[in-house]
Amino acid sequence: MTSNNVSNAPGLDAYWMPFTANRQFKADPRMIVAADGMYYTAADGGRVLDGTAGLWCVNAGHGRRRIAEAVERQLATLDYAPSFQMGHPAAFDFAERLAAIAPGGPDAPLDRIFFTGSGSESVDTALKIALAYQRAIGQGTRTRLIGRERGYHGVGFGGISVGGILNNRRVFPTLPGVDHLRHTHDPVRNAFAKGQPEHGAELADDLERLVALHGADTIAACIVEPVAGSTGVLIPPKGYLERLRGICDRHGILLIFDEVITGFGRLGTPFATERFGVRPDLVATAKGLTNGVIPMGAVFASRAVHDALMHGPEPAIELFHGYTYSGHPVAAAAGIATLSIYEDEGLLTRAASLEEDWAASIHDLRGTRHVIDLRNLGLIAGIELEPRPGAPGSRAYDVFVDCFRRGLLIRVTGDIIALSPPLIIERGQITDAISLLAEAIERAA
Ligand SMILES: Cc1ncc(COP(=O)(O)O)c(C=O)c1O
Repeated sequence: MTSNNVSNAPGLDAYWMPFTANRQFKADPRMIVAADGMYYTAADGGRVLDGTAGLWCVNAGHGRRRIAEAVERQLATLDYAPSFQMGHPAAFDFAERLAAIAPGGPDAPLDRIFFTGSGSESVDTALKIALAYQRAIGQGTRTRLIGRERGYHGVGFGGISVGGILNNRRVFPTLPGVDHLRHTHDPVRNAFAKGQPEHGAELADDLERLVALHGADTIAACIVEPVAGSTGVLIPPKGYLERLRGICDRHGILLIFDEVITGFGRLGTPFATERFGVRPDLVATAKGLTNGVIPMGAVFASRAVHDALMHGPEPAIELFHGYTYSGHPVAAAAGIATLSIYEDEGLLTRAASLEEDWAASIHDLRGTRHVIDLRNLGLIAGIELEPRPGAPGSRAYDVFVDCFRRGLLIRVTGDIIALSPPLIIERGQITDAISLLAEAIERAA
């Protein structure tokens, strides 16, 4: 009889790993076998402090019984139900609870919620809603989408098109009618800035330039990450997002925030929207939505966007879009339990109380060998290392492997180290993580 249990020593060939150097990994694998609270357990039994909340998603820490129990209960009650022309309570309940904390503030919350299965799907969904909205209000010529260099919006064709990462685009065709703002990273003027950098608000004017080039009547939406995470923690300059909002308003362009990383407390507010005081029209989320436990994403839409599509004959489907797993009952149950934990433990704002100490610890790395820039906001940090001549990325990769072997999980992109621990982290754990990291950076020749 075939066993239902996970083998502790599986063969490595069959699994084609995502965003991984498969051959390098399989020659010297790094396996995680368990997790609890702030720590992973590696295959050799060693404890590894989670400096990255998994992949920016386990905001409430690992092994939360309350989520596991909610999932178990939901599985035993209703494991799956179709979401097209059918409903089940968990999806409505979760949407209602999300609406209660929706970005945008009490006067104009973005409280109409479309469920997806991941961040990539949330991005594609937000882009499609933007196009459908423009058409619905008689602006059907607006089909152009504007992204930004060094943006990461997942791996769907929409996401890689508006995204600005060469390797994600190089071998794949992208959508026509897409253009990009310049990125905001300016180490010459802003290196070692604490929090939001002073210089660069004027980079938002790139959108004016694209309006002048293409015509506002061709542009549907502009999508940015409020803080770019995956391309190395790029913090928006002071005034930049406000200026972008103003230009969008002047030209009838929808502003989409990709809050897949910044959503659910990462910046010390529930969403980046509150942190920066800038209200977009659509917000793409995933990751922390369910504490990473069950895959799920959600797009928050303003009522203006949503209501514009609620027209025409009532039997007509208003938006031809959706996924088999939209509003999946088990994911929704995990999400409801996650929100309860966030609420009961104050996690959506906890990063604000840690931010000062976090920033101080990060900026203590100034002067460490190879460190050429440090960036921080909320409970995020970017630590940029001088690349080795002729071998970009190899220094940070060595630091990553060294840290893992010694008990700290970090994430690297090129020669940039990104940190984004679970929001339950204690001050002592911050100190431990940073001193372990400093030693590993010093060791990397
Ligand atoms: C800003 C942003 N958008 C979209 C995505 C894609 O999310 P997923 O991997 O769940 O498709 C990510 C993933 O890291 C992200 O950081």
